[in-house]
Amino acid sequence: MQQLTLPRPDDWHLHLRDGATMAAVLPHTAQRFARAIIMPNLNPPVTTTRQALAYRDRILAALPQGSNFNPLMTLYLTESTAPEEIIRARQSGHIHGVKLYPAGATTHSDAGVRDISNTWAVLETMAEQNLPLLVHGEVTDPQVDVFDRERIFIDRILAPLLERLPELKVVFEHITTREAADFVREASGNIAATITAHHLTMNRNAMLVGGIHPHHYCLPVLKRESHREALVAAATSGSPRFFLGTDSAPHPRHAKESGCGCAGIYTAHAAIELYTELFEQARALDKLAEFASGFGADFYGLPRNTETITLVEESWNIPQQYSLGAGGAVIPLRAGDQLSWRLSDV
Ligand code: DOR
Ligand code: ZN
Repeated sequence: MQQLTLPRPDDWHLHLRDGATMAAVLPHTAQRFARAIIMPNLNPPVTTTRQALAYRDRILAALPQGSNFNPLMTLYLTESTAPEEIIRARQSGHIHGVKLYPAGATTHSDAGVRDISNTWAVLETMAEQNLPLLVHGEVTDPQVDVFDRERIFIDRILAPLLERLPELKVVFEHITTREAADFVREASGNIAATITAHHLTMNRNAMLVGGIHPHHYCLPVLKRESHREALVAAATSGSPRFFLGTDSAPHPRHAKESGCGCAGIYTAHAAIELYTELFEQARALDKLAEFASGFGADFYGLPRNTETITLVEESWNIPQQYSLGAGGAVIPLRAGDQLSWRLSDV
């Protein structure tokens, strides 16, 4: 039986939600990861340091006993975020990034940014304070086809932004296209990208062939196979600009299986196992440790973890669903399917 021991990984992009849902999903992440960057798209969004610290306290209170999991908090950028808020965030020691949602791009993004030129002063302060900008990289222009929104974002927003503020650290979140992978690999700015397990393992056929599969709907939407292949090449390339970020995003079943279903795929239940299976299929298991446990910490300027986890090559069945308590149930990725790697102590 093959075994793999890695430094304990970190998840550089995670949705935990709040309340009963958070309490239900948090143990999955805390069993696997040492730290995670916690997305601020609650309703209402986490726009101030005070709100982020209160949210952090709720996460810590919901952790299973004995867990050392460390939530790394973020702020939600709006057109009225003040530069002073950035300084407060940095001084808190607990806020590690500021999230840019183009208004209307995705779940709870209505309070996001309509015109990036209204945020220059804040972005300049972030560059000075060495606080990374985390980007949902899609334009919302209704003229732009949903499959092209990431590619067009690079030309219209991201490339000019890096040129204007080359010192600003930017994480291009959950990249989905060959163009995004190429851009991040070659850009001269201070940029990196997270890649999800679902974009590495599925193309858009998984969402649309043989019926519509709402549990495979996420944003940015799954793309064609050639893009998936480019993401696998990037993740397994050994480039320090690509690292793990699950974008695990729980929605209750009824909100996904609906006339207007929500975007988001739940992967926290098997996150590191999904990446391990994919890296093995790509014959790149030797590249997993840096992708999952090294490059992200380096980019964020945080120490690497010293604890380890062990994965065992042994099949297990993923449950059909997980309870969200009063919030209903979430259908996990690969529900009812077998996964070929398991965590040795779960
Ligand atoms: O699929 C997604 N779900 N993409 C996002 O950008 C947001 C997330 C969510 O919060 O549900
Ligand atoms: Zn996300």
